[in-house]
Amino acid sequence: MRYLVTGGAGFIGSNTVDELVRRGHSVVVLDDLSAGKEENLTEVRSKITFIKGSITELEIVQKAMLQADYVIHLAARASVPRSVKDPIETNRINVDGTLNVLVAARDNKVKRVVFAASSSVYGETPTLPKSEDMRPLPISPYGVSKYVGELYSQTFGRCYGLENVCLRYFNIFGPRQDPDSPYSGVLSRFATAFLESTQPVVFGDGEQTRDFTYVDNAVQANILACEAPSASGGTFNIGTGRSISLNQVLQMLQNIAGKKLAAKYEPPREGDIRDSLADIRRARETLGYEPTVMFEEGLQRTFAWYLAQSAKKVAN
Ligand code: NAD
Ligand code: UD1
Repeated sequence: MRYLVTGGAGFIGSNTVDELVRRGHSVVVLDDLSAGKEENLTEVRSKITFIKGSITELEIVQKAMLQADYVIHLAARASVPRSVKDPIETNRINVDGTLNVLVAARDNKVKRVVFAASSSVYGETPTLPKSEDMRPLPISPYGVSKYVGELYSQTFGRCYGLENVCLRYFNIFGPRQDPDSPYSGVLSRFATAFLESTQPVVFGDGEQTRDFTYVDNAVQANILACEAPSASGGTFNIGTGRSISLNQVLQMLQNIAGKKLAAKYEPPREGDIRDSLADIRRARETLGYEPTVMFEEGLQRTFAWYLAQSAKKVAN
């Protein structure tokens, strides 16, 4: 099968591409490298087609889409606080860009589009865990952009018969998550703070909780979402069904890294939700999804990966 992976040079994207190539599929990556890196694709570079370009340009998306069977649409500006700072740019990429991907997928008669949605569409729910039948009420422009992407995906199903699946990922972490931006995911920031013995910064009191989900689980979900027979038109939470506070994460990292670091507590971030925990029953039942790497194991693997990366940098 031929897959187009938008955002395939990014964190979740490059891990997904690796697995698709491992399974013998043909893969096209469309990425503008605004956040992703070509080096994330080093191991598979000779086996895939890489197109540098933006999903905001319909012509480029049309070109990348040629002969695709499945589209895994991950390209986006992925940060909540960045969307609070610049909602117009987040909308341009996440909403206008997604519309281009859907139009091109429709025109090229692809079998199915899998859209990277987000737990952020829920906002603060009155109860936990968050389940797909709860009413979305995002509290950040990013959450809105992801919800609009879902609505467009489903509307293209109803209007043009384009098969689609929306995956609401819950805080994915693991190797290749970029730690170098102030907008990077918290675990990549914490892991590198421990490696560099700098103070980890906690926004708020650190008692906020997240259903941190190791990237292999998201990769598994992406591929199942393309293949599962009765999944089209559906929206699925992709998490682990367990959550943990940032303060607990810091405690675990102290044990893994074998050092104690006092965190620096700063005011909470705008657009931040307090608690996040996924009900994953629907994904289990319809996609056959089952998280295979749970948090502690994932954290150990991730820390080991950042450690190996910093050793490589020192050697070069
Ligand atoms: P990432 O930033 O590593 O990946 C996004 C990729 O999209 C990058 O490679 C970037 O260069 C590319 N990109 C950005 N704008 C583009 C454009 N205009 N045209 C082409 N490519 C563009 O982030 P990620 O964590 O791998 O996230 C992948 C997707 O999953 C995003 O849609 C994100 O919103 C969604 N998501 C991520 C998480 C998470 O916890 N990481 C959770 C929920 C949803
Ligand atoms: C993350 C994803 C977003 C996704 C959402 C879904 C990233 C960058 N963001 O958003 O794409 O849709 O999950 O669940 O991958 N924090 C600190 N210190 C830091 C960084 C963050 O305390 O150095 C705090 C934040 O204020 C927040 C929590 O850690 O309370 C998680 O933040 P972050 O990793 O940015 O993820 P989300 O905002 O949950």
